[in-house]
Amino acid sequence: MTGLTSVSAQAASYQRCAVCGHQFPDTDASPTCASCGGLLEVVHAPPSVRGVHLRGVFSARRTNGTDGGSGVWRYREMVLPGAGDHIVSHPEGNTPLLSRARVAAWAGVDALQLKHEGHNPTGSFKDRGMTVGVTQARRIGARAVACASTGNTSASLASYAAQAGIPALVFVPAGQVALGKLAQSLAYGARTLMVKGDFDACLSLVQQASTRLGIYLLNSINPFRVEGQKTIVLETLEQLGWEAPDWLVLPAGNLGNTAAFGKALREAHELGLITRVPRIAAIQAEGASPFAQSFRDSFAKRHKVKAETVATAIRIGDPASFDRGVNAIRFTDGVVTSVTDAEILDAKAVVDAAGVGCEPASAASVAGVRRLVREGTIRSSDRVVAVLTGHILKDPGALLRYHQELSPAPEFANPPVEIDATIEAVERVIERF
Ligand code: F0G
Repeated sequence: MTGLTSVSAQAASYQRCAVCGHQFPDTDASPTCASCGGLLEVVHAPPSVRGVHLRGVFSARRTNGTDGGSGVWRYREMVLPGAGDHIVSHPEGNTPLLSRARVAAWAGVDALQLKHEGHNPTGSFKDRGMTVGVTQARRIGARAVACASTGNTSASLASYAAQAGIPALVFVPAGQVALGKLAQSLAYGARTLMVKGDFDACLSLVQQASTRLGIYLLNSINPFRVEGQKTIVLETLEQLGWEAPDWLVLPAGNLGNTAAFGKALREAHELGLITRVPRIAAIQAEGASPFAQSFRDSFAKRHKVKAETVATAIRIGDPASFDRGVNAIRFTDGVVTSVTDAEILDAKAVVDAAGVGCEPASAASVAGVRRLVREGTIRSSDRVVAVLTGHILKDPGALLRYHQELSPAPEFANPPVEIDATIEAVERVIERF
């Protein structure tokens, strides 16, 4: 990408272990701390301007096009200031913030807005992290890239790696990946390994493989992915005129995104972009809710479960970014809760029927808002942004099962009607409309 301007283009970034504090160059390719095995985070030199001036830099780029049309690289001082000419961008981001009265009424919040990350180029928020991750792979001269995935990360990696001309290897749990996502990975040309095991097994395998084979690991434990995903929050805040909402609500699986939200809010506050920090509500599926269980114990214990849920994107029993997730919830005075598969599917049907649409895991955020309102945690007068993380067409299988196959038919089921090819048959249907 050309024409990107930066306040401090030469600014140094480095990696720091979140556990032992060891520091590493920003071009170090190790997935975790070489000293203690802890997760790494990226630290950037502070931009030369802050507060309202930094906001001005971001908005000027949007106006004059020097962000290359990317809602990630517009915020490059906070993402990867040293990216230089290595940027691999579709572009991505610039996703809409939607208000839909029917969804708000169902959830029980007057001022509910939906940040629709399904509008990204491969249909999920993962593109925001992947543009940075694959840019970093190019910076360090990676010969190949790899990830384990429930389907969206692999679709995104496959696409960005194809654009960068770097071979991609993806590990997915056999039989547990939604159709649209698997199709994408194959179509974009990633070598796709269907592992006889769950996501947690895939993650362990890809970590071993990347160490042994020297392949650059691009799961969300990769700290550069986190830097990109922070821009979901930055862009939302910018769309709200930097007036923070009361709540940011998101589905939570491996906790990379929860971690990114916490880091974004901490930095936005430190840099004077916002004066008040919104609370994060992380929502898990009941059958895959180790983080919610730990929250109930005030995070005294790290729970692990054998995960099971219709929302395959978040079917994760041992979240890799657990500690980072805890930091995010603590820093924002956040909450973690879980919702049932039935609640997820109903929320999805409501979002879909409003003409918006999202995949099942995304609907967990809307189901979570409704539950937290009913429990009295979120007030109906609060300003709430719920993140829809993936596109409706990611998981056509779950969708068709809901509308056509479930018995008894769920409340919002809209089954197709088979008719003879006659006008009378059409009329009979219309009469009952
Ligand atoms: N929503 C969707 C649509 C996802 O694909 C994911 C994660 C999440 C929410 C949860 O985000 O893991 O950062 O807490 N998908 C990963 C993947 C695991 O492989 O695509 P998280």
